[in-house]
Amino acid sequence: MAALDDIKKILAEAHTAIDAASSRKELDQISIRYLGRKGPLTAILKSLKDLPIDQRKTVGAAANNGRRELEEAVKNVSDRFQTPRKKSSVDPTLPGIERHVGAVHIITQTIADMCRSFYGMGFSVAYGPEVESDHYNFEALNFPPDHPARDMQDTFYIESDRIVLRTHTTPVQPRVLEKTEPPVKVIMPGRCYRNEEISARSHCVFHQVDGFMVDEGVTLADLKATLVAFCHDFFGREAKLRFRPSYFPFTEPSAEVDISCFLCGGKGCRVCKHTGWLEILGSGMIDPNVLDACGLDSEKYTGYAFGIGVERPAMLKYGINDIRLFYENDIRFLRQFG
Ligand code: DAH
Repeated sequence: MAALDDIKKILAEAHTAIDAASSRKELDQISIRYLGRKGPLTAILKSLKDLPIDQRKTVGAAANNGRRELEEAVKNVSDRFQTPRKKSSVDPTLPGIERHVGAVHIITQTIADMCRSFYGMGFSVAYGPEVESDHYNFEALNFPPDHPARDMQDTFYIESDRIVLRTHTTPVQPRVLEKTEPPVKVIMPGRCYRNEEISARSHCVFHQVDGFMVDEGVTLADLKATLVAFCHDFFGREAKLRFRPSYFPFTEPSAEVDISCFLCGGKGCRVCKHTGWLEILGSGMIDPNVLDACGLDSEKYTGYAFGIGVERPAMLKYGINDIRLFYENDIRFLRQFG
């Protein structure tokens, strides 16, 4: 049968070409030439109908088998041209990129801890501006102009001598008292500024938590009880308190409060300068002048007030020996308190 001979010839020719292919491109062309729609085997299959009936089956089968045979051969040779897999760009032996979860700054944590103690005693919270008027920072707190007590606080003045960076959080007290009818019990956390030489012990930026209570019949005993409860909660049950007479223009009488040094248990060490005590806050009974200036009747109402430094207690509690660490934002320092 001529057709079968043709198929044999086509296959032999195609095999030779496939075996000799030297690139993928060449192999693709050979494959199209012999196996494509216009290829010789397709042409034979298309013309089957012109063959005598008895030959159609044999020739058809031979052409189809031939196709399969060539497809197989093309596939085998094409493996030769497999481009080697690109090396992965991932190096699994490299250490991964470390990720860190951010955390609340230790000063913010300390302020939150202090506030929590006072919330537990029924205080609410109030905030005031850091850029403050001379009026609230000094005058409303009974610092008359040119009063030497102003020298206690090295003030940063802004533009005029009427606007300052607040030197304490106490100015929030008259701001609240002007607007609130007693009873009132408030804490006032925030940032303060003083023109201090920066050293391991002091900084020009620091924080305070001020607080006060005004009502009828508030006494020094209420102040003591409140501060004792706070110190026990914040520093621990063993903390002892010592009230030392002091002076602030806005309180009368005034007291500074020390706690027993929790590092040496009161025996005396380097941190407490061998006194056994650590100074942590100022306090007193609100001066009637302050209440009157806020429009309250000082015959009817009395109140206590206190101002706690934040940095010093935090340094003592966490064993930090340089106040500058709080503001340098060295990640190695901050991470310890995450
Ligand atoms: N404002 C004072 C200071 O910065 C601390 C202080 C003392 C606040 C007595 C008070 C207080 O509210 O009653 O040194």
